[in-house]
Amino acid sequence: MHHFAYRDGRLFAEDVDLTALADAVGTPFYVYSEATLRRHYRVFADAFTGADALVAYSVKANSNIAVLKVLQSEGAGADVVSGGELARALKAGIAPNRIVFSGVGKTRDEIAAAIDAGILQFNVESAPELHVIDAIAREKNKRAPIALRVNPDVAAGGHEKISTGKKEDKFGVSWNQARDLYREARKMAGIAVQGVDIHIGSQIDNLAPFEAAFQKVAALIGDLRADGCAIDTLDLGGGLGIPYGEGAIPPHPDDYAALIKRVTAPLNVKLIFEPGRMIAGNAGILLSRVVYAKEGEARRFLIIDAAMNDLVRPAMYDAYHDIWPVAENAGEKISYDIVGPVCESSDRFAKDRALAPLQEGDLVAIMSAGAYGAVQASQYNTRPLIPEVLVNGDQYAIIRRRPSFEEMTAHETAPDWLR
Ligand SMILES: Cc1ncc(COP(=O)(O)O)c(C=O)c1O
Repeated sequence: MHHFAYRDGRLFAEDVDLTALADAVGTPFYVYSEATLRRHYRVFADAFTGADALVAYSVKANSNIAVLKVLQSEGAGADVVSGGELARALKAGIAPNRIVFSGVGKTRDEIAAAIDAGILQFNVESAPELHVIDAIAREKNKRAPIALRVNPDVAAGGHEKISTGKKEDKFGVSWNQARDLYREARKMAGIAVQGVDIHIGSQIDNLAPFEAAFQKVAALIGDLRADGCAIDTLDLGGGLGIPYGEGAIPPHPDDYAALIKRVTAPLNVKLIFEPGRMIAGNAGILLSRVVYAKEGEARRFLIIDAAMNDLVRPAMYDAYHDIWPVAENAGEKISYDIVGPVCESSDRFAKDRALAPLQEGDLVAIMSAGAYGAVQASQYNTRPLIPEVLVNGDQYAIIRRRPSFEEMTAHETAPDWLR
């Protein structure tokens, strides 16, 4: 459940009238509801009440520092995949011992920074990475706490580009190599083996792939312990899907939690979770204004001022997003293609979408845009990164402002010979 709803025919974010907000901020921009972020965090965390569990919010889903601060105040840890995300999490006040570091290509500098910070765990994705972590930790006279991210060879995820747990995927240590690598890791002076990690994909809309993967991991923990390896943490990653207004309704976190409690109860491990989309996805929308209503020969277009550079999910993953008019309109529905101004045919938010008639200047809200929205934005076509606004009751704050042209180009210089 989220806090975007109509009042007397006008769309509000909590108690903020989005028509007035659009006039104040200027479109396009993202709006996040703090109450929704808190609610989603609590629904997830409460599902594991009674278990020894850490919810390490996956920073990649929405990394705005204000969003991280909201979640930090709820007790969230963080799952990071770069030195930049680590720095953001620390800046937001998330304690290092609640941070896990995932990702297939951690650099030496990033590893050193994470060891210095004292993070809870590296989720190691390959043998070469393990060796580098060992070497850096030894140089610092430290032991780096690690789990191996194992690849269970289970298909999952709402789109092939967000499936990560198949053996063809670049992620994790191959199932058949994991036990040997654990044996090697235990001998390394710079490594403290503490757990197992898994993450099979994103926008997963049923429990079957989770169950298949988690059962495999539970069996692996038995094997590792038989090998004499102490396994104290089990990181089950993220991936739980959200409703996007079309397609299957993903499982409720309570059902996901019931499955996990059943599978992991005999293991006696500290559980770690890395939810991203489930917390941020439906806590955000993208607000945009119609620039032109264009009657093509074959189709009717609404050209809006947001584009694929602001929200790439439809272009990249063929993702569906509900689109709501900001002012309700009783007119008979018309079929529109809703597109952005960028010079790519894939710059399209919806095809053949039935909406009450809209015209130039009208506002639309692209729903469920809080995760993998602003974080994936670019400045393609020299379009500035758009503002992000956080709403809390009847207050709002611009938590990332729109850069000026000078700021956008400040890091570019012409070489001397062109002066
Ligand atoms: C390692 C890892 N953990 C967690 C997540 C978050 O996934 P989601 O947003 O689907 O919960 C991702 C995203 O794909 C990921 O790669």
